[in-house]
Amino acid sequence: MHFDPWSPEFIAHPYDVYDELRRERPVSFFEPTGQWLIARHADVNALLRDRRLGRSYLHVATHQEFGRPDDPEFQDPFWRVIRAGMLDVEPPVHTRLRRLVSKAFTPRMVEALRPKVARIAGELVDAFVERGGGDLIAEVAEPLPVTVIAEMLGVPEADRHLLRPWSADICGMYELNPSVEAQHTAVRAAQEFSDYLVGLARARRADPGDDLISALALVADEGDQLTEEELVGTCVLLLNAGHEATVNVTGNGWWSLFRNPAELERLRADHGLLPTAIEELMRWDTPLQMFERWVLEDISVGGVDIPRGTEVALLFGSANRDPEVFADPDRLDVSRAENPHISFGAGIHFCLGAPLARIELAESFGALLRKAPTMELVAEPSWGPGYIIRGLRSLQVTT
Ligand code: HEM
Repeated sequence: MHFDPWSPEFIAHPYDVYDELRRERPVSFFEPTGQWLIARHADVNALLRDRRLGRSYLHVATHQEFGRPDDPEFQDPFWRVIRAGMLDVEPPVHTRLRRLVSKAFTPRMVEALRPKVARIAGELVDAFVERGGGDLIAEVAEPLPVTVIAEMLGVPEADRHLLRPWSADICGMYELNPSVEAQHTAVRAAQEFSDYLVGLARARRADPGDDLISALALVADEGDQLTEEELVGTCVLLLNAGHEATVNVTGNGWWSLFRNPAELERLRADHGLLPTAIEELMRWDTPLQMFERWVLEDISVGGVDIPRGTEVALLFGSANRDPEVFADPDRLDVSRAENPHISFGAGIHFCLGAPLARIELAESFGALLRKAPTMELVAEPSWGPGYIIRGLRSLQVTT
């Protein structure tokens, strides 16, 4: 097998290919996407922190200067929303946007949310156990982070069912070489989501609540700190990033435990292992397999020259199995103490929600371990089509 992010077999098990890449071609050109694949932990980690690269190049160059075509006009509504969020901009705009919301996501602020997260997780798991099980992803993994981030932002309960489909459709654009149909779907979702948030922000401005959208709407009102477009971009990003990966860590994580029954037994026997287990599940089967960066100035990686104007694909899933960094990397070890995995990224775009994600995962895995101590798999799950955002379609279990 070779690197093929569109192949279901590769998506199901990319790790042997990564192994070969790390050993033989740690920096290699991938013709179908025109990107340089970066496979080693040291290189991925260094490039994430290297300011000669960026999530975008539009702050220093035009599409023409980078030899790229203009975005097709029909994609305008999509890019207006996405490029107004902090993840797709670089300093100084990034610094300003991140500062505006970072206060809400400090470890201390999110620690205060723990009782609420624990209550929601407990209720979801109670109902799940009462039904004797079902699809762990649809019934526990998804509703927990969606509810938490929707409550933080102040999305009314009646509208929350809209978030997950909008997010999934938008994320379709992040996969490698998305189909024209996927592009149109993403554009439509971005437009609908944006219209919805503009309306919600206006309502909150008139009648503020104790939530992040109200707070941001008031900041936007004050003038130079936040435009309405940035407000929408920020909320879309928080709502999407605030649940997509957490859902997949939960699903992939339990699937990893079922595939490693001895480790599941260790964890069941000692719930004190939960903190290290969660970090290990995020490392062993990485939910976000790859992130891209544009090369803004010529660089050299492992002796390979990579010129300005090209794109690198940082293989997180490969970095997280690098034997230079992790002892016995293919082994799932729920008590692994030294675990500098790269699943939350590094550098200026390091995941803003990492403290919140850790609390959500601790509470949902904890509740399932306590309340469903003999939970078992019913059928082998299948992987969804995504490679970059990689998760199971469903996970059928009985409690
Ligand atoms: C286990 C779950 C999660 C994982 C694995 C994850 C992973 C990541 C990664 C890898 C990045 C950086 C992407 C890059 O450098 O290109 C990122 C950024 C981000 N994440 Fe998360 N994330 C998770 C949960 C969350 C949650 C719960 C939130 C809640 C708000 C969140 C909000 C964000 C935001 C706002 C950014 C952009 C930060 C910036 O550009 O400065 N994430 N996440």
